[in-house]
Amino acid sequence: TQDAEKSWDDELQQLVETLPKEQGWSISNLYLYQGFWCSALTLKPLISFQTHFQAFDSDVIVATFPKCGTTWLKALTFSTLYRDRFARDENPFLSSTPHQLVRFLEQDVYVNNPCPDLDNICVYNKPRLFSTHVPYASLPTSIKDSRCKIVYLCRNPMDMFVSLWHFAEKLRDESKELPSLDEAFDKSCRGIHAFGPFFDHVLGYWKASQENPDQILFLKYEDLKEDISCEVKQLAMFLGVPFTEDEEKQGVVEEIAKICSFEELKKLEVNNKGLDVIGIPHKDFFRKGKVGDWKNYLTPYMVERLEKLIHQKLESSGLTF
Ligand code: A3P
Repeated sequence: TQDAEKSWDDELQQLVETLPKEQGWSISNLYLYQGFWCSALTLKPLISFQTHFQAFDSDVIVATFPKCGTTWLKALTFSTLYRDRFARDENPFLSSTPHQLVRFLEQDVYVNNPCPDLDNICVYNKPRLFSTHVPYASLPTSIKDSRCKIVYLCRNPMDMFVSLWHFAEKLRDESKELPSLDEAFDKSCRGIHAFGPFFDHVLGYWKASQENPDQILFLKYEDLKEDISCEVKQLAMFLGVPFTEDEEKQGVVEEIAKICSFEELKKLEVNNKGLDVIGIPHKDFFRKGKVGDWKNYLTPYMVERLEKLIHQKLESSGLTF
């Protein structure tokens, strides 16, 4: 009812007022909630997601830190998991963006509805496929208690930062000045970016994947770039839909890699027009799609600072970039 909605909004407002606050990069302030930074707009759908989401053992969830290759992983997971559901000449990427095919829970599905009809939200069911940027520790307990599968993709933090910097510039409110590259870099090193700190995010999923390798697959953007066929086969195996010998002979793995590639997706009309649910132009999810673009932007001082941070944060975790 409207009254319940109003009292919930009031409660949320009170909560927001108690949270530590920082100026965000491009659009709004960021609030520290459960140890990670998020915008006030994300908080409401996030809490609905945490409170109401009921996972099925068969669900698959694509999890990432923003700008680490979410769009790519959504495309790859969708095409691998559902490859038998659509005909070869009916490539669903021609008419929908990867973000429309695999929807964000906290940034899309729960945005206008605290209790959405999840079965009707996915393109296909059994398994249902969703995505999230929420850190592992803050996922709904129903996900952690279920046997659903999570595919996590991380990326070198230097490239993540450069990608985020460009993305923030595109999202900038024209009336506000964007922090300089130096300021944004400093914020990033202090963990102040949506869903950050980055290292807590990555390590949360890394540790969970080590403890529970059947439930969480941990992938790296750089490995996908280096040997996509090998990674797609690993993904299929993890999802419980390994490629048959026949499929491999017919080149199905390479076909999936191709339709999900940066070059193919970037040129599709559907990815070049329109806005997503929270108003982001679809085309802004495709920039360069390269490894090592940080070399064109970061000063030697920045590289040194970030290298030290990487070393300090990942030391003894077994994870390297
Ligand atoms: P760059 O800004 O470095 O080019 P996300 O999808 O998590 O928002 O991440 C966006 C980053 O992934 C951008 O990186 C974007 O260009 C890149 N990207 C998008 N689609 C891709 C694809 N199919 N293959 C490789 N990289 C892709």
